[in-house]
Amino acid sequence: MADAVSGLRKFTTDLSLYEKGRPEYTQESVKFLLNRVGVLPWDRKESIKLLEIASGTGKFTRAMVKVLEGEKANVEVIASDSQEVMCDTFRRLVPGIEVHRFPAEKIALPDESIPVIICAQSFHWFASEKSAAEICRVLKPGGKYGMIWNHRDLSVPWVRAMQDIVDPFVRQKDMPGDPRELKWMESLNSSGKFTSVERDTSCRTYVEGNIDRIMSVIMCISAISQSSEEKIAMVKSEISDILLNHPDLKGTQVYKLPYITDICWCTKL
Ligand SMILES: C[S@@+](CC[C@H](N)C(=O)[O-])C[C@H]1O[C@@H](n2cnc3c(N)ncnc32)[C@H](O)[C@@H]1O
Repeated sequence: MADAVSGLRKFTTDLSLYEKGRPEYTQESVKFLLNRVGVLPWDRKESIKLLEIASGTGKFTRAMVKVLEGEKANVEVIASDSQEVMCDTFRRLVPGIEVHRFPAEKIALPDESIPVIICAQSFHWFASEKSAAEICRVLKPGGKYGMIWNHRDLSVPWVRAMQDIVDPFVRQKDMPGDPRELKWMESLNSSGKFTSVERDTSCRTYVEGNIDRIMSVIMCISAISQSSEEKIAMVKSEISDILLNHPDLKGTQVYKLPYITDICWCTKL
């Protein structure tokens, strides 16, 4: 839904459910992304700045900080999000990393000040001519913009069946749509400000747990959590029916929900 004051789409969900429901970013995928945006391998003495936009509760930031510490990479991470509630939660969950409140359409940093910008599970929420221009403005010449998403693997029949229930919510007006359709890519490719977006989908991950854990994956989807109590109850009942009765899941106690990690990057021209 669009925010009445800013006019921007608003990602709304129960944040503790979000923390529980969303998969962790694997070290492999984080390293891959950091490699493509030129942060790894680390072979420099001086530090570089990395801005993460739309950092939310810091789920990606925490995974990235762990990788950077492991690689002894001297990277100064700054985070940002358009919502104060996200920044507050971030400060609690990721102490020690600066987080600023600003939208991707109006980044409160000087021109050509940042060599690398990263965005996790979010760019489809605000991909536009305006945000592409703003990311370009803040990047140093030759700077890199990297994006990452974990997508549920719809080639698995029971995951596809759950998606059939989710789809009508995600496709509502005012919702950003499904990032798998790559509509977001157009804003970067048509801007003339970046090299063509490159992409890798070879990394895999999963969410493992009981029915309650898998339910949290679906219930923290913003388009669902913003719905009426009646619709939420309907989704819960339909998802639990799949998890209990789908022929491929008979007798399952511990579910393994598979994800494909989509990693994309481009360079400021
Ligand atoms: C799905 S969450 C992803 C959070 C985090 N990056 C992660 O990987 O878990 C989407 C985030 O995008 C943020 N967001 C949505 N529209 C935005 C905008 N126009 N500018 C900056 N952040 C925005 C939301 O506030 C939310 O924190």
